[in-house]
Amino acid sequence: MSISWKRQINSIAVRISLSIAVVVAATTIAVAWLILHEERRVLELELQRKGAYLAEVISHQIIEPLLYEERHTMYSLLQSTMKTEKGIVVFAEVYGADGEVIVQAKEVEKTIPVLDKKILMRMSSASLASDPLLQIFDISLPVVAKGLGTVGYIRLGITKKFLIETLTEVKKKLYLLSSVIVLSGIMAGLWMARKIIRPVLMLNQGVQRVGRGELGAKVDVIGVGEIKELSLAFNEMSARLKESVDAIKTAQENLVRTEKLYALGEFSAGLAHEIKNPLTSVKMLMQAAKESGKPFCTTDIEIIEGEINRIDRIVKEFLAFARPAKTERIATDINELVKEVVTLSRLKLEQSNITVIERLDPAIPMLMVDPDGIKQVFLNIVLNAGQAMEQGGVLTVNSTSGDSKVSVCIHDTGTGISEENLKRIFDPFFTTKEDGTGMGLAIAYSIIKEHGGDIMVDSMPDEGTMVSILLPVVA
Ligand SMILES: Nc1ncnc2c1ncn2[C@@H]1O[C@H](COP(=O)(O)OP(=O)(O)OP(=O)(O)O)[C@@H](O)[C@H]1O
Ligand SMILES: [Mg+2]
Repeated sequence: MSISWKRQINSIAVRISLSIAVVVAATTIAVAWLILHEERRVLELELQRKGAYLAEVISHQIIEPLLYEERHTMYSLLQSTMKTEKGIVVFAEVYGADGEVIVQAKEVEKTIPVLDKKILMRMSSASLASDPLLQIFDISLPVVAKGLGTVGYIRLGITKKFLIETLTEVKKKLYLLSSVIVLSGIMAGLWMARKIIRPVLMLNQGVQRVGRGELGAKVDVIGVGEIKELSLAFNEMSARLKESVDAIKTAQENLVRTEKLYALGEFSAGLAHEIKNPLTSVKMLMQAAKESGKPFCTTDIEIIEGEINRIDRIVKEFLAFARPAKTERIATDINELVKEVVTLSRLKLEQSNITVIERLDPAIPMLMVDPDGIKQVFLNIVLNAGQAMEQGGVLTVNSTSGDSKVSVCIHDTGTGISEENLKRIFDPFFTTKEDGTGMGLAIAYSIIKEHGGDIMVDSMPDEGTMVSILLPVVA
């Protein structure tokens, strides 16, 4: 069965009208059966009464011919009765007191079975043939003569043909009437169902519209009672929903604006703070030179140069974070990048007594990345690890692949990060180091996110830190 058919059958209108039709049909059939049953009972009774009456009349008329054995008179009497009651009496017989047939008149071809004397005593109904039109009432009556008692019997065959024909006619009419009633029932059911459920269907459409995002959608308020209340409640709910969503949207926009302002404030404060320190030392040196009237000595110039370089570095890093340069992605072997970074930092790491362990999976796929950016990320993390293990330790670099991702984990056995600081390590300018800018991890985060990847830091104070980088393998 197709879906649309299923939907049709499941629709409330069809179900209601079908239920009504079933109830109407059942009631009509029951009423029709009762009518037919009653009609048959009344007709049969009527026919039997008529038969009994005829037998009674004949039994009086036949006494004399029966006593004088005037067969011809008896036959004429039977014949004339059959003639006047044409279509009702199909055979008539006169029996003697001993139960022998004396005279017989019949309209049917069939041989009429002779009845037993005992049966002649009472009225009986019997079938002469399988053809329902040939069914008869077999009516027998004793012929009683005054002073002589029972002198014979009269037997009449009353056909049920008329009764059956009448019943067939009534049946036909009843069938026709039932069909009309059932059909009207179905039509009325459909009409009623449509009328009752129209508001429900409209509500259904309204709900679907709201579901599709058409907030504030209204339905026409039709129907009465609960249905009307439901429509009103739906309209109110839809309007409130729109109000709430609008309010949430405005609140969200405000929140985003506030968040942006906050971030900008944080940035500016951090930048100002970072630049202020080197500027102060330059300013102090210039003040001292001005007061003493002596020119700068070589150490002064070196300090000033160092501080200006520091300002330059801070501004460059800030710019790299705020406006990352457009980079080109090329197929890159991540293991190669890791090796280059380790080679670059090896001397410095060995000076701090740090052992480097590389566990690189040679099977990792090539990734479409900006190699310089990713190298900078690894370098920042390896430098951090080195700075956390100034008293020596072990640096382990791991690379694996799986689940459409390549992961690089850099683990150190350094100072670790407190829970408090762990929440802030990706914030720009967050640093715990004297000469740090606090931009290393902020830039790393920005680059990795730019590549659709993830960067996570796990750390335990005094035990070490593990930085994990996940990069997606893009086909
Ligand atoms: N491996 C690590 N072990 C311990 N602390 C770490 C580690 N990595 C980062 N941190 C903490 O996170 C802070 C922020 O690191 P981030 O690299 O962003 O800046 P930084 O190293 O302080 O300065 P720079 O800009 O020179 O990198 C560090 O100051 C340090 O407190
Ligand atoms: Mg750093």
